[in-house]
Amino acid sequence: MKKDILTIMDLTKEDIDRLLERAAELKKIQKEGVLHRPLKGKTLGLIFDKASTRTRVSFESAMIQLGGTPLFISARDTQIARDEPVRDTARVLSRYLDCLAIRTYSQDLLDEFAEYSSIPVINALTDLYHPCQVLSDIMTVMEKKGGYGGIKIAWIGDGNNVAHSWINAAAVLGLYLVLACPKEYYPDGEILNNAVDNGRGKINVTDDPFEASSGADVIYTDVWASMGQEREHNIRKSVFEAYQVNSRIVKNASKDVIVMHCLPAHREEEISEEVLEGPNSVVWDQAENKLHMTKAILEALIGGRAGESDNLFSDSL
Ligand code: CP
Ligand code: NVA
Repeated sequence: MKKDILTIMDLTKEDIDRLLERAAELKKIQKEGVLHRPLKGKTLGLIFDKASTRTRVSFESAMIQLGGTPLFISARDTQIARDEPVRDTARVLSRYLDCLAIRTYSQDLLDEFAEYSSIPVINALTDLYHPCQVLSDIMTVMEKKGGYGGIKIAWIGDGNNVAHSWINAAAVLGLYLVLACPKEYYPDGEILNNAVDNGRGKINVTDDPFEASSGADVIYTDVWASMGQEREHNIRKSVFEAYQVNSRIVKNASKDVIVMHCLPAHREEEISEEVLEGPNSVVWDQAENKLHMTKAILEALIGGRAGESDNLFSDSL
């Protein structure tokens, strides 16, 4: 059975732990100069309907480094833009490709793609979630903090797609996550309630950034206006003013707090230049880990892990 990653809720704790372990191994062997080409002859399609630097290039590089071929498909140059139904596109592309990564607006559209595709479909960001981002972010947390258990993770800013994937990760992995957002920009209530009611994490939401950052081991922020919300930028700038991750917030956290941002960053908006470029910031290592985690994901989904016939995902057996 094919496996999709449309949200972190598609994965078990065991799946994520295996991906984290494998991503670390792949990073190590790459640094040692070992060539590892298990996806020779395989093709990954990337359908992108929104801008991207990191996700697009890390997926393309990951596929090339694993011996496969990435095929970038700008959504606006396809028949999708001329209203060919998603269910038709999905069935046709499944005959050409081995895996699809999709960045789009609507999670429903992604879900429809997955339903009609016979190949694995990966969420490369929607308005609702950014699961691969958070999987690679957890890899960075593990590297810097030695694990993800028993630490306080503070999300400060908009209750957006990346925040939703952190909430999902907290539920699946049992993270301690405190989100500070202006009340009108709290995360989606259904996603939050589902995680709190059914997950194993400790998840709190507040509108006080100092409560969230107090003693935090990890501080995470993201843009105040996500792609598709550009017209709200000015309104959001005034509402979010008190949520900037700056030296006052960092001083309120644990002494060796790490500051994370999925990037692109808007200096002096959600994060001060001083903090972004300062000693607590891990954003460049964080960005690098997108490559290594993507390789682990592609290897597992496309099934080319050399020398192993077992499927890496627990519900696919
Ligand atoms: N963090 C992230 O997804 O960046 P891009 O929008 O550049 O892909
Ligand atoms: N929340 C941001 C993340 C970009 C990687 C957006 O959706 O634009």
